[in-house]
Amino acid sequence: DAAPGTTTKRVLLAAPRGYCAGVDRAVVAVEKALEHYGAPVYVRKEIVHNKFVVETLAARGAVFVNDTDEVPEGARVVFSAHGVSPAVHASAAARSLQTIDATCPLVTKVHKEAVRFAAEDYDILLIGHDGHEEVEGTQGEAPDRIQVVNSPAAVDDVVVRDPDRLVWISQTTLSVDETMETVRRLRERFPNLQDPPSDDICYATQNRQVAVKKIAPSCDVVITVGSANSSNSVRLVEVALEAGARSSYRIDTAAELDARWFDGATTVGVTSGASVPEILVRDVLEALDRLGFGTVEEVRTATEDLMFSLPRELRADLKAAG
Ligand code: F3S
Repeated sequence: DAAPGTTTKRVLLAAPRGYCAGVDRAVVAVEKALEHYGAPVYVRKEIVHNKFVVETLAARGAVFVNDTDEVPEGARVVFSAHGVSPAVHASAAARSLQTIDATCPLVTKVHKEAVRFAAEDYDILLIGHDGHEEVEGTQGEAPDRIQVVNSPAAVDDVVVRDPDRLVWISQTTLSVDETMETVRRLRERFPNLQDPPSDDICYATQNRQVAVKKIAPSCDVVITVGSANSSNSVRLVEVALEAGARSSYRIDTAAELDARWFDGATTVGVTSGASVPEILVRDVLEALDRLGFGTVEEVRTATEDLMFSLPRELRADLKAAG
């Protein structure tokens, strides 16, 4: 913190922030598909939950649709990073669509857990946000066995067949602390509740929350760059506030910054969600510079070097083309 009486205005820039390995892969998959096959390339749902990314790809010839029935028979379609249910795969096959599955491998991992526990006749409690695409996809793996638990408060409504054959899994982009609170309450009701075999909340979500928690207590304002439908971005806004930021805002781009948010502020925190290109953060830093916050100090709590290879179908075609 700045010593009392000084007016040093600064930015604490959280790291890691921005693109995760699953988003990078999904965006590059659409770019490569456009290069290799030519436009249009259909994409079911937003490839990642970021307005700027979607608009940029749309300008290059990606056509975003809500469902496979909007894709012309036989055409090529990319499935988004959030994953799809088996029913979506089936409807794509019925329309002879050529699919490129850009589901993040860490989401696929959760699907596989769901399939395995359902096959072993468990009741599965999927902690996550009802209506989110990832949750729809995962739940679709075993709709009769999976129920969604939205929040700690929703625990009281859970009804199970056999409390001794019960497991929880989760969406990948939740608040770690809130999820642990939900699990704690679930375990109070169901002491034999089993944990998933490994963390479902992904490394990128966890790392971005740890980083913003580190800077938040020193910040008058925390700015999270990310879109309103981006689960992990919205969680960063909440986590910053819970960790002690005086105020916390989410913006899509620098144009949404409001100078009044910074009245009397000396320290501004900046982070970005896993679907946010760094160029949007650079724009925010430039705008903050114009408001007098020219000193930027990066606070890093982890380094990330994970990368995923491109979707198999696409890799095969790129390879065949040399
Ligand atoms: Fe995958 Fe986590 Fe990113 S699940 S898409 S690595 S936010």
